[in-house]
Amino acid sequence: MSATDLAAVAKAMVAPGRGVLAADESNATITKRFAALDIESTEENRRAYRDTLLSTPGIEEYISGVILYDETIRQSTADGTPFPKMLESRGILPGIKVDTGSKPLALDNDEQVTEGLDGLRERIEEYVSLGAKFAKWRAVFVIDDAKGFPSDYALHCNAHALARYAALCQEGGLVPIVEPEVLIDGDHTIEVCEVVTADVLRAVFAALAEQRVDLEAIVLKPSMVVPGKGSGQSALITEVAAATLRCLRASVPAAVPGIAFLSGGQGPEVATAHLHAMNRLGPQPWQLTFSYGRALQDPALAAWAGDGGTVAEGGQAALRHRARCNSAARSGTWTVAMETPEEEMDN
Ligand code: 13P
Repeated sequence: MSATDLAAVAKAMVAPGRGVLAADESNATITKRFAALDIESTEENRRAYRDTLLSTPGIEEYISGVILYDETIRQSTADGTPFPKMLESRGILPGIKVDTGSKPLALDNDEQVTEGLDGLRERIEEYVSLGAKFAKWRAVFVIDDAKGFPSDYALHCNAHALARYAALCQEGGLVPIVEPEVLIDGDHTIEVCEVVTADVLRAVFAALAEQRVDLEAIVLKPSMVVPGKGSGQSALITEVAAATLRCLRASVPAAVPGIAFLSGGQGPEVATAHLHAMNRLGPQPWQLTFSYGRALQDPALAAWAGDGGTVAEGGQAALRHRARCNSAARSGTWTVAMETPEEEMDN
């Protein structure tokens, strides 16, 4: 893909009214999510669940792309159509998680670095042949004030790896989703989260520039600026929106076409409310959208499991509902009333 084509894909991923569904849980992660609902994590159960999600009628109105896992991109719908092909036929871009997870940083205490660069050029080539149009790599940053985390060492190593991944993707014809996640775990305040998130973003954009990454052809997937889960601090929706935008405006170049947030452990409705509040704060240099995993899937997974993993409709209605609410949040037109079942039935 030429630079112009890549930029067009990035733009399509963040087009108004639409966002990206993260359905790229590794087998270890989906096994945990299934276990919580008493579902056995077999290859067929994982396929059937992803089939339920991806085949949901009508989501193409709200969903521009889906991030798949290595196993999923090779699987098919019940009628034998490969998932990437089925998505593309409905105008949804198939994407692929290419990192292989985070491991402890060498000679460090508790910080992590994301791995997956070895052989990535060749894996990208294969994913392109399987129909992928974009990729994802997630770096995680732990805040621990007492230990001085994230350290400069962790910032640098993770930013460097993210940039190497992004450059390889663009060379090989995939739009990289660049995902630096500042974890919600910890007892830090929202103020500390804002400072750390700005440091992380600055390190990431410095590394992207060093490694010649074309900013017009990436999508940034950051965490929002929120208080740590164990902080005891609660922040208003409007405070989170203001702090997140202040931080992004100071650190993210306007050349980036869009910012697609992760949900990071926020509940589905809260994640929607935050996106809505940000989009109400007026036009920004970039599109502001969603790339949620749990905040889009949790109600759908619960409904699917409640139906014994066999009936698709409940899970599909739940996914369509969250997708529709987040689509409205993109234009700041989401309302609490949209969350009521009566309203959903009318639509
Ligand atoms: P959550 O929205 O559940 O944080 O997942 C998004 C994601 O892609 C994590 O890498």
